[in-house]
Amino acid sequence: MVERLRRYVQVLPDAATAAQAATDRILQLANAAIDRRGLFSVGLSGGRTPEPVFRALAALPDGARRWPSWYVFQCDERWVPEDDARSNLGLARRLWLAPSEFPEDHVRSVTTRVPPEAAARRYEGELRGFFAGAPATFDAAVLGLGPDGHTASLFPGSATLDGGGRWVVAEPHPALPPDVPRVTLTLEALGRVRTAVFLVTGPEKREAVARVLGPDGPVPALPGARVTAQDGVEWYLDRDAAAGLPAPMPTADRGATPPLNPPRT
Ligand code: 6PG
Repeated sequence: MVERLRRYVQVLPDAATAAQAATDRILQLANAAIDRRGLFSVGLSGGRTPEPVFRALAALPDGARRWPSWYVFQCDERWVPEDDARSNLGLARRLWLAPSEFPEDHVRSVTTRVPPEAAARRYEGELRGFFAGAPATFDAAVLGLGPDGHTASLFPGSATLDGGGRWVVAEPHPALPPDVPRVTLTLEALGRVRTAVFLVTGPEKREAVARVLGPDGPVPALPGARVTAQDGVEWYLDRDAAAGLPAPMPTADRGATPPLNPPRT
């Protein structure tokens, strides 16, 4: 259990270097998974924070691209058409998957063409089928943190936090915009991933980060504080988001300072 709660925190000077550090880690996990098991599965979140990660993946040189061995899933989705600007998959497709000519049959997304509850059950069935018999689900889950401490579309105080054995549920009433129904992995499903990679940047996340990673944390009311993972939960923060943490948190310039606890792959 300790392993699942093992946390690793890296503070970078700014949002760009934090995003690059997270991208570098995702690629490291991907190459290790592909070399070891022949494929890499990753669950994506939405919002603004992962945009530079998607752009960096799209900019990879041909020699670093191993897309035929990647499978992209979703950690959550807004219940809007994919061409809606609020769509999480739409964002990943615009910034990364389409320009990279990512193999379409390696994208396993939440359908929003049926009502949210049906979409949740259909996506759960796909996940359970894809990972049937496997000791874990995604090799990596890329997660953000809302200013209220939500992650994926798991919001504080929501009934979805008691997933009741489900891997995917509908969240009809998200606490923060966009105010559209959501479909989200549950904490149980997130706990089955191998590595959770949080990327959190910006001063508006300072309080939530302090309540998750600070001396008074982790505050269990915050879904972001309750994420566990088989091989550990890793946090890539910029200085602004980490400003509420006790000093000195080492600020690692890209490549200059080794991580606090070099993550295993
Ligand atoms: C979503 C995201 C959500 C996001 C956080 C942070 O669908 O909204 O999955 O969990 O990660 O809200 O959002 P920002 O990156 O926009 O701050």
